[in-house]
Amino acid sequence: MSTNASEKNVRQPLLAPGSTAKHSLRVKNSALRLLVLPIIVTVFWIGTILIVPGALRSSVLSTGELEKCAWKTLRDHVTLLDVAPITRQEFLQRQSILSAALEKAGVDAFIAEPSASSSYYANISSSYDLSERPFLMIIDKEGHFSYLAPKFELRRIASLDMVFEKKTVIEWGEEESPYAVLRRDSSYKKVMLDEHVRFMIASGLQEAEIEVVPTSQTIQSLRSVKSEAELKILRGINQFTLELVRSLQKCIRIGMSQSTITSAAHTLFTRAGVGRGFWAIVLFGDQAANPHGGSLGKTLGDGEFVLIDIGSKLHNYGSDVTRTILPSKSKVSSELTEIWNTVYSAQSAAVELMRVNETCSVVDAASRKVIADKGFGEFFTHRLGHGLGLEMHEHPYLNGANDEKLKAGQVVTNEPGIYVTTEQARKLNKEVGFGVRLEDAIIVTAEGGIVTTGSRAKSPYEP
Ligand SMILES: *[C@@H]1O[C@H](CO)[C@@H](O)[C@H](O)[C@H]1NC(C)=O
Ligand SMILES: *[C@@H]1O[C@H](CO)[C@@H](O)[C@H](O)[C@H]1NC(C)=O
Repeated sequence: MSTNASEKNVRQPLLAPGSTAKHSLRVKNSALRLLVLPIIVTVFWIGTILIVPGALRSSVLSTGELEKCAWKTLRDHVTLLDVAPITRQEFLQRQSILSAALEKAGVDAFIAEPSASSSYYANISSSYDLSERPFLMIIDKEGHFSYLAPKFELRRIASLDMVFEKKTVIEWGEEESPYAVLRRDSSYKKVMLDEHVRFMIASGLQEAEIEVVPTSQTIQSLRSVKSEAELKILRGINQFTLELVRSLQKCIRIGMSQSTITSAAHTLFTRAGVGRGFWAIVLFGDQAANPHGGSLGKTLGDGEFVLIDIGSKLHNYGSDVTRTILPSKSKVSSELTEIWNTVYSAQSAAVELMRVNETCSVVDAASRKVIADKGFGEFFTHRLGHGLGLEMHEHPYLNGANDEKLKAGQVVTNEPGIYVTTEQARKLNKEVGFGVRLEDAIIVTAEGGIVTTGSRAKSPYEP
């Protein structure tokens, strides 16, 4: 407000009447008058042909136009992505913490295939294509790093950006059993397997007389509890993702198609330099009665919510944000507004409880109660949330059966929703179905949850 007022004060003298330019125009005016009228008529006529249909078209922006419109506000937030990746030192520290935990658990080594865990401990990307030939990362209780790899793949594997202090390569030839080779070349008798290791590997190891045990909760929580550096990355990508949704909300119009919005979202991520985005679910009106959608090809009607569930990755860490929004010129019934507010209150109830030592199932129940009290209990069909990090869905899971306690530094989503199909809506004397969900990833602290997105939704118009 104050900036605008002072700008006005500066500009006013420039607009004062009687300037020389204006004066000379007035002189020429009478001479031109006869010519001007036909020109105006012609211009108006051409304008009617060209501009009016153009204006109609532009009320529904194309993907390119939507992207351009959203980028105008989003570009100011790209700096949110200026966050340092995980350092070599932090990787090495993770390995030594794991070793100590293995020693304590009485296990010789931890084994992972290329996965979020290999990515976490040694920067071995989870996007390495798994094949029937095992390539295993091994960290043992003495802190030693090794990997078991097919002989003919050694050069390719060595070129990965792995992080280790010293390494041993255990190679197996095509005519050998990789597990027998591991048994022969190591002293491991009992190993802990990462949760994503395939069954063929577990059974192969057992056949070679190496005992296997599943990942313990203690070792699992080494990865679910985030360091300062990880929290910075998660905050950066989650805040940016929310800004992307906000920038879209400013530009979405009634009549737009789902694919226009989805494509624009992918292009915006790409333009910001973080890939094309992991997913972009865009659902209109009753399509959102399926929490993850399924149907495509709809255009946005007046009075329909737009549910956007979207995520991307920065330095391999994910974002996961959902907003249920309205374009500025659209209105929903007071009943639907009330539903939106109920979901918001359910999210609030859980944010407060997302604190150290609170039980996952208790947090889930607190948000569920808010929705059940309004009579929609059966329509909150999924768990409250999940851990977020190197995996888009990881431990801990916030559901009614998980009695794990939350730990400081864990990042979990808080995403209550109400989903009513059109068929169900008719039984409730409503015309049409709907789906409303709000989702932010939350950092667990001793005092309660902190939103990684910076701020929660305020209304369907202020996501
Ligand atoms: C981890 O891997 C990425 C991608 O390959 C690479 O850019 C980065 O430098 C690696 N980090 C370290 C600490 O080596
Ligand atoms: C959480 O529980 C542990 C074990 O009961 C206790 O030592 C710790 O002080 C508790 N932390 C907080 C913040 O309540």
